[in-house]
This record gives sequence, structure tokens and C-alpha cells, in this order.
Amino acid sequence: MSGEPSTSSQIYPAMSHPVADPAAFVVAARFAGFDAPDPARARVLEIGCATGHHLLPLALRWPQAEFTGLDVNPDAIQCARDLAHDAGLAGRVDFHACALEDFNADGKTWDIIIAHGFFSWVPDEVKRDMFAFCARHLATNGLAVVSFNVEAGWRARMEVIRKVRAIQQAGGGIDAIASLQLLRSATHDIDETIIIDDMLAKGPSILPFDDFAPVNDPWRLDAFAVEAEAAGLRWLGESVVANNRPPGWTAEDEAAAAEVRGRLAPGDFHHWMDERARRTFRSALLCRNDAAVTGKMSTSAVFDLALRPASPEPPADSGLARRIHAALMKNWPSAPAAEFLTAILPDVPASGLAREICREIIHGRFQARCEPLTIPQSIPHRPALDPLKLACVRRRLPVVDAWHRPCGFPDRQWPVLELMDGSLNLTELKSRAARIAPRLDFERWIAHLHERGMFPGGI
Ligand SMILES: C[S@@+](CC[C@H](N)C(=O)[O-])C[C@H]1O[C@@H](n2cnc3c(N)ncnc32)[C@H](O)[C@@H]1O
Repeated sequence: MSGEPSTSSQIYPAMSHPVADPAAFVVAARFAGFDAPDPARARVLEIGCATGHHLLPLALRWPQAEFTGLDVNPDAIQCARDLAHDAGLAGRVDFHACALEDFNADGKTWDIIIAHGFFSWVPDEVKRDMFAFCARHLATNGLAVVSFNVEAGWRARMEVIRKVRAIQQAGGGIDAIASLQLLRSATHDIDETIIIDDMLAKGPSILPFDDFAPVNDPWRLDAFAVEAEAAGLRWLGESVVANNRPPGWTAEDEAAAAEVRGRLAPGDFHHWMDERARRTFRSALLCRNDAAVTGKMSTSAVFDLALRPASPEPPADSGLARRIHAALMKNWPSAPAAEFLTAILPDVPASGLAREICREIIHGRFQARCEPLTIPQSIPHRPALDPLKLACVRRRLPVVDAWHRPCGFPDRQWPVLELMDGSLNLTELKSRAARIAPRLDFERWIAHLHERGMFPGGI
């Protein structure tokens, strides 16, 4: 039934998460002055990996890295193993159907530990176990990324959840969606209506695991950092550099922040921003307490990054940022910055270039990865999805793009995607698509898929 508490037989919907993509969060760690591991050769563990939808594309991307996934739900782990098998990745991820509390790591350490969508949905003792596990099993220069719901933005949502649960009880157990709809028709509070609409948009496959999960426990950042510290871990900031400022942060917010920044410790200052912006979500980077952290990104490290403008529109403010933006747009998909920026902009000193690039990354106008993408310059003559994408298409599961974003499709488009195994050329695909999905604008669609890096290996 929709909106009911999850049981072990209910599997979390297949998803991947750009904020927990090591190619992006290693950059955020370097911004904090932490010598983060190279993910292409790392030992990576995901706690609460569900059906492996986040981990398997990473295993395909980095053949020399080692992957372990664990989840308490045996059905989810079976799906992960089946998908790995069909995608030719059997044995590339060591999947365990096991609770974290019972997992025997056998003294092993990991360079990267991912716990996305885990912390807020487990009881307090498991939260403590997770911190202790990370402190014990991170390599010296290891990095953990742990997401959680933030109290500042969830306070009003928790009130809606409390009301819905009361309606459910009074209504003899009607489901959460029906109760939300009842509440929506009764409320005159605009803020409450916005929250209810947002919950309804998540739908019955997500809500039982998210807002209406048996445990849904939003935390304050300062409490999170203190608890992590007590276990032997240090909070480094958000896993995506630009997210250190809350979403929608304005110039007015920034002016108010300038007044309080110097008076508060970093954790308290970030909590102050969370409250002001009513932030709902964080994805925190943690390292071991005894690891070296300088607090500053080195200039040379900036030139190793692969950059991509977040928007094709050039930045409004600085002449130099506009020139870098134009160079990046021309060189898509982006190579490491050092390979072409210094050649294209020889009149700009390296330190000035690095400063400007950092500023654009901090403000979210450039997205940065620790390695370039391998995307052909033009759409391949015979577009081919990789075996993992094809296996996902056959199961009608979201396909993960080059930026680790999950991508779902309308019903009629799936059969067209199934044909993309490299055996048909563009003209043949177009004519098959015209029969299967007559309303599809094939040219635009295939260009969009190419932009998202869906055909890295086509010819
Ligand atoms: C909200 S889902 C998130 C799944 C995935 N990480 C994501 O973000 O898309 C939480 C997952 O953690 C798993 N889980 C819950 N408690 C666990 C525990 N004690 N040990 C291991 N896995 C657990 C659940 O089975 C579920 O698959």
C-alpha cells in the first residue's frame, strides 16, 4: 500500500546520486585542503547500497578500483547481483546482504566510504555504529560521504507528517497519499500546501522510505559534527563545493552572513546558514581526526580538475570568468584545465587563473571533477549504450549518465533505447523510432542523450 512503513521486502527505488559521486566529492575534499584518494584506484564501500544503482556505474567507470556494497535487505542485494551479472560486472562489486552492525570487515580499510540516504533513516545506535565504523575502517587518507536530512528545513515537514499520521489513525489506517490529499483540501496555510505538494510529487515509491519511513530523523549540522568528532572523525564541509552555501542563497543572505561569519565557529556558522535558508539536506564529507588538513586548495591542484560550465550562458560579472567560460564551452567535453586554459589565456598568470576558477566553482557556475569525461565530440554513427545501461533499459530502470544523474524515460522510448547496442546506425535507428514512438523528435532526443554522455564508446 502506498505511503506505508517499509519492510525488508520493500526495495528502495533504484537511484544514483551526483553528490555522492567520488569524481565530484574528491574535489570538495581538495578544496578543504585534504589530500583525497584517487577514486580510479580506490577501495570503495557503500553502506545501504540498496540495488547497487549508485555503485555499479562507478565499478564500470573505474576498472582498477575495488567495490564493496552492503545492505540489510537481501532482496535488494539479490537485484544488485542480478544486474551486475547481466551487465558483465559480476565479481566487480562484493555485495553483502548484511546489517552494518553485523558486518565483519575483518580489519579491512577503505579509501572511500559512501552512506547516502542512510543516517536519517536508522535508529540512533546504528548512527553511532556508522560513525565508529568509518573511524575504524577509513584508510589514513580516506574520505567518507554521509548525507542526512537537516532539521532547519524539516521542522515544518515533520509537523505535516505528524498531522498525516493522526489522519491515518483516525481514518482506520488509510494510506499516506490519501491522508496527504485530505490534509491538502483542509489547509489554508500556503507553506503547508507547498510542503504537501512536494511530498505528493515524490509519489508512493519514494514516500514510504523518505518522509514516512519508520525512522526519519533530521539533524542539526553542529550536532552531527560533534557526534562525528566524538567517534574520531572530522567534518570537512559539503561533498559538492557550491553546496557549502545553501540552495537559493542570495546576495542579501550573503551580506547578513558577512556580519556573523567572524563571530561563529565554522560548524555554528553553517548551522546559522541552514536555519536562515531552512535547508533540508546535507551531504557531509568526513575524514579521520588524525589525517592532515590544510584548509586550502593548492593552485596546482586546480589545474588538474576537469571543468564544465553549469550553464551555457556566460557569467555576468568578471571579464576573466567570461573568457574561461568561453574556452570551456569551446573545449567540451572538458579536459583537465591545465591542458588548454594556460595555452588559450597565456596573458593571465596561473595564480589569477586558479583564483578565478575557484571562485566560479564555489559559486556553482563551473562544475568540477577530478578527471575528464570520455565523451566523443560528435554523436557516434552507431550509438551504443554500455552493457550496464542496456541491462537497466531492459529492466526499465533509470539509466545513469556521465554526471551520475539517473535518467528515466516515457514508456514508448524504452524500446528505442533497447535497440542501441551499436548494431544500428543513426538512420536505421531513426526509422525504427518513427514506428515505435511516432511523436518523438529523434534528432533532438539523440543529441540530448549524447550531451549527457550516454554513448561513451559508440563508433
Ligand atoms: C533510504 S534507502 C537509500 C538507498 C541508497 N543508498 C540511496 O540513497 O539511493 C536506505 C537503505 O539502507 C538500508 N539499511 C537500513 N538499515 C540498514 C542497516 N542497519 N545496515 C545496512 N543497510 C541498512 C535499507 O535496506 C535501504 O536499502
